[in-house]
Order: sequence, then structure tokens, then C-alpha cells
Amino acid sequence: MSRTDPSKRLEAMPPYMFAELERRVADKRKAGIDVISLGIGDPDHATFPYIVEAMQAAVADPGNHQYPSNRGREEFRTALAGFYERRFGVEIDPETEVIPAIGAKECIYNLCFAFLDPGDVALASDPGYPVYTGGPILAGAEVELLPLLPEHGFAPDLDAIDPMALSKARLMFINFPNNPTGAIVPDGFFERVVELARKHEFLVVHDNAYSETTYDGYVAPSFLATPGAKEVGVEVFSLSKGFNMTGWRCAAILGNADAIQTYWRLKTNIDSGLFEAVQMAGAAALDGPREPLAEMNEIYARRRDLVVGALGEIGVEVSAPKGTIYVWAPVPEGHTSTTFAELVLEEAAVIVSPGSMYGPSGEGFFRISLTTPDERISEAVERMREHLS
Ligand SMILES: Cc1ncc(COP(=O)(O)O)c(C=O)c1O
Repeated sequence: MSRTDPSKRLEAMPPYMFAELERRVADKRKAGIDVISLGIGDPDHATFPYIVEAMQAAVADPGNHQYPSNRGREEFRTALAGFYERRFGVEIDPETEVIPAIGAKECIYNLCFAFLDPGDVALASDPGYPVYTGGPILAGAEVELLPLLPEHGFAPDLDAIDPMALSKARLMFINFPNNPTGAIVPDGFFERVVELARKHEFLVVHDNAYSETTYDGYVAPSFLATPGAKEVGVEVFSLSKGFNMTGWRCAAILGNADAIQTYWRLKTNIDSGLFEAVQMAGAAALDGPREPLAEMNEIYARRRDLVVGALGEIGVEVSAPKGTIYVWAPVPEGHTSTTFAELVLEEAAVIVSPGSMYGPSGEGFFRISLTTPDERISEAVERMREHLS
């Protein structure tokens, strides 16, 4: 073994499927080809000015310059509780039922280390945000994939989960509106999850990264609004996508007080909390006007319709998603996710994400992100129409 070999846990992580595609993109760009990326989901518009102004004031205040506490600023916790009440009709005790997280990604990883031992199982949506599988693997636990299939509205089939996996399950990760499928939660699904979690004593983690990014009048609920949810679960709420704040690392965990206490206990050993100025800006974001969010959603809806229309013209039929910043589409006959993504890159110099990147059940699909400026999306769509029809 060499001194720079990774640990067995790191070695066990699935390969980074985008690596080969990235290499090709780099080659193309070097050759002067204008590649348009519809790969990553990172809002292209600036953070709303009222949030930036709150940050400017907070960053100038020496009171925010020292180590934050992992419990979080009262202002941020209270703003989250107020937001959950107004937006979701969920009552949150700001003292015990919420603490900040340095992004949902940190929170999900650390939940794995807080709750999973070797031999334990995490139930994870497939396809899904890669951290639902990477987190448990790094924590030395096992993952039971829950396929998200079109015939079930891209929700896990709870009746089909292996009983052995259920008996060892300690965590279940769910996420609606869903990345990468764009699906919204089917009626009654959260209620059934609560029932299952009660029966099998696992902790539900609802990843609520996209509740503010919805279209066509759809308003996404919080998992915590489901009767009994707080007894069995937590929700990870992120300001990244809805408030154009991906770079700020501003999120929170809300819900079951005992679970949050355990997560806090782990965090006190690992990080030193979320910069208090970011917490103050986060509070301003949550207390602020809703219009900027509505304007962003109009922009995404317009892009979504452009993409869905263009895909239809090249023979790829998709229904327009009601939430998230993604269009999830089946690859044309005769292709795998990867060969299609390669074809789009070669023929149209456009990057789409192969569905298999998000888990085995993502095979046969590709994902288009709507976070590219309008004119670049139009150009990408035009190229796909021209080269792939
Ligand atoms: C489902 C889901 N959860 C969490 C995240 C990450 O959120 P954050 O920026 O708060 O770490 C993403 C980002 O793409 C996501 O798609």
C-alpha cells in the first residue's frame, strides 16, 4: 500500500461518471468549440439584492466575526420557524426543532455518520442525488436502492422494498420535488412513508431542496406537514436553489428534536457552524418578499417549455415537470444514457447529464438543467433540433 492510497471507504465510492464526459468537453473547448452545458443545476441568476444587502450589513458587523455556535443564531432559527408556519403550515419550535446546516449536502452526509453503523441500511431513491448513496458508503453502511419508475410517478414503490433491507434500515432518503426526475410527491405518499417508518423504526430524511421552485400553480408541501412526520423524521431545507444561493451554503434541518440533537452532537465534533453573517442573510431571505421567487419560476417555466417543445420535435416525448430545475427525458431508441449524452456532445456540442449518473434506474434517461441563460438554452435547443432530428 502506498502512502497516498485512499481509505477502503473512499475506494468503495462509485466512480464519478461524469469524468469521461468532462475530459471530452475540455478537449472540445481546447479545440475552440463552443460547448453549452445543460449539465449542472446551479441557478445562473444572482442572489436577490435584498439578501445581498442583508449580507453586506451582517458581514460588516464584528458581532458576526467569531466562531458561530452549531445551534445557530436565534434570528435564523426564528426566521425558519416563521417561514415554515407561513409557507407550509408547520409549527417548528425554534429552540429544539431546527438548527442550521452548511448546505443540504453537508447535512445529508453528516446524518449518515450520525445514524449509520456498518451493517445498517440506508434506503435511497434511485435515481437520486448522489449523496444518498455516497454518504452511507463513506459511513461504512449499506444502501438499498428504491427505484423511481415512471409507472409509479417516479416515487418509490413502498410495497416492493426487500423485507430484509427494511429490518436493517435506519435511514430513508426521499426528495420531492425530485432531482433528477422533476416529479412531485404523489397524493398520500408521505402518509404511507410515516406509516412504514413507524412500523420499521427508521428515520425519514426528506430532502426539501426544491419546494420553492415549482410551476403551473403547483405549491409543494413540506414532509413535516404530514401527521406524525415529526415523530419519525426530519426535513433538510436548503436556500440554495429557490433563493439563488448555491454558493452561500445556507440550509437547515427541521423536525424531530431528538434526531436534530444527535446530528448536532456529531457536528460539534466536525465543523464549527455556519458563518453568522450567512445566517443573518438567510433570515432576511426567508422573511423577504415572494416576488423574486415567482419571477425566477416564470423564467424556469419558460425555459422548460422551450426544452420540452424542442425535445418533442426530435421525437423525445416528455411531460413538463411541475417542479425543480430539471427536465428528465427518455433517451431515443437504440441508445443508452451515456451513448446519447455522447452523441449530443459530439453532434450539437451540448452537455446533458446521462441518467445512469444518478443510479442504475436512471439508465434510459437523460437530464437537462434549466439554469443556463435564456439565449444559451435557445441556442442549445436549436442545435439539438438541427443535428438530432
Ligand atoms: C436533491 C438535492 N439535495 C441537495 C442538494 C444540495 O443542496 P445544497 O446546495 O444545500 O448543499 C442538491 C443540489 O443539487 C439537490 O439536487
